[in-house]
Amino acid sequence: MKPHVDMKNLPGHIAIIMDGNGRWAKKFMMKRAAGHRAGATALRRLTERMNRDGFKMLTVYAFSTENWKREDEEVAYLMGLLHEYIQQYINDAKKNNVKMTVIGDVSRLEPSLRVKIANLKEITANNDGMLLCIALNYGGRDEIVRAADKIARAAMTGEHSSPLQEADFEAYLDTAGMPDPDLIIRTSGEMRLSNFLLWQAAYAEFFPIDVLWPDFKIDHLYEAVAQYQSRERRFGGR
Ligand code: IPE
Ligand code: IPE
Ligand code: MG
Repeated sequence: MKPHVDMKNLPGHIAIIMDGNGRWAKKFMMKRAAGHRAGATALRRLTERMNRDGFKMLTVYAFSTENWKREDEEVAYLMGLLHEYIQQYINDAKKNNVKMTVIGDVSRLEPSLRVKIANLKEITANNDGMLLCIALNYGGRDEIVRAADKIARAAMTGEHSSPLQEADFEAYLDTAGMPDPDLIIRTSGEMRLSNFLLWQAAYAEFFPIDVLWPDFKIDHLYEAVAQYQSRERRFGGR
């Protein structure tokens, strides 16, 4: 049953840590790869529905800067899956009307994947549906360090004045121009951020849910939204 949700007051930006693909596969005695494939399908299903229901923005954690530590076989499978699914999003770009972008250090990804990502952004640039942002080779610390490095370079050419303001710093993050997440959902029951949106999560509402990512459905999302709507956000005020 869908919990009561005020559709006129949906969180503007939802972010999801899609965790639990490996445990899902294990549950069915399948290889981790099968869990990742099921996870990619779950994302497609969810984004189509969220777009139809009028959500404005979704950021998903697809691959972290620490995920390279996994076995070569698993990393290779994940990269292949990204190719495949990005191609599908490109093929369906006009029909879906979802606008897409990527955050993270794409420079470490293989050139053909980078070309595909550029293509995806370009082809969906004029879509006016939900914005789907994929965090790929993303780490909050890495993003902050890259931003600091860009600022240091800009300082050498006198492009900005000191003291630096928060807004100046934000303009150098991968998420420049994007609103902070209002609600961060993590599947699989884990209760940590795992280096996701460290700067941007400052006042996000956190919703851990004990469902493995491939099993996550729109009703789970509405459960999170209903809980979000029942909370009082104070931002440090009273
Ligand atoms: C999340 O599922 C997907 C990625 C991190 C790429 P996991 O692969 O982390 O699944 P578990 O946590 O091992 O169950
Ligand atoms: C976080 O999940 C990264 C993604 C979902 C892409 P992990 O499975 O990598 O995180 P830890 O290792 O449990 O903290
Ligand atoms: Mg995990």
